[in-house]
Amino acid sequence: MTKVKIAPSILSADFSKMGEEVRSLEENGADLIHCDVMDGVFVQNITFGIKMVEDLRKCTTLPLDCHLMIVHPEKYVERFAKAGADIITVHYEACKDNLKEVLALIKATGKKCGAVINPDTPVEAISDIVELCDMVLVMSVFPGFGGQKFIPSALDKLRQIRAIIDASGKDIDLEIDGGVNVENVAEIKAAGANVIVAGNAVFKAENRAETIARLKA
Ligand code: DX5
Ligand code: ZN
Repeated sequence: MTKVKIAPSILSADFSKMGEEVRSLEENGADLIHCDVMDGVFVQNITFGIKMVEDLRKCTTLPLDCHLMIVHPEKYVERFAKAGADIITVHYEACKDNLKEVLALIKATGKKCGAVINPDTPVEAISDIVELCDMVLVMSVFPGFGGQKFIPSALDKLRQIRAIIDASGKDIDLEIDGGVNVENVAEIKAAGANVIVAGNAVFKAENRAETIARLKA
């Protein structure tokens, strides 16, 4: 199977020293930097946007994995791409019937694109879109906040999407986001995820390098 990659979520970082936090993640073995963009409308929380991505671009060579939890993502994908995002993921729930078009818009910028589904959205909503994605993201918590408990029904969704990806023969990443830790990561990987987002598990750890290594192993 494809190599497992760890994408720490900077939602759990100290925002007042974000540059240092991202450099520390890179030094401690992270493979991607997961950037949670929240608009206070699509989710009940507000984080950061294009300017943060632009500034973090100068702090790391790791891919910036931008998870857009915003309404009308089509209005902003080009600017996130220009700011230095490498992967831009958009929610099915924010795009609905336009998901294909929004993914094409991201691809047109030359960046990788991905579709995200919430815990209450079935795989069927995106099954015919999977092949258009560079990455599919399964939410294992309702988006908005870090530190929530993993919702086990995500495991079955991972298995379903992994089957679609394998049948396609394409190189598509399968990412999981929410409540992942060193205890539950094995079954998550066994279910087919190969990109692991971890916020609290990494940032609350005493030893970031060791935790990232354990998540990856
Ligand atoms: C939730 C975010 C996640 C979250 C992960 O809306 O998309 O990336 O921060 O944090 P943990 O790993 O603490 O659940
Ligand atoms: Zn996220």
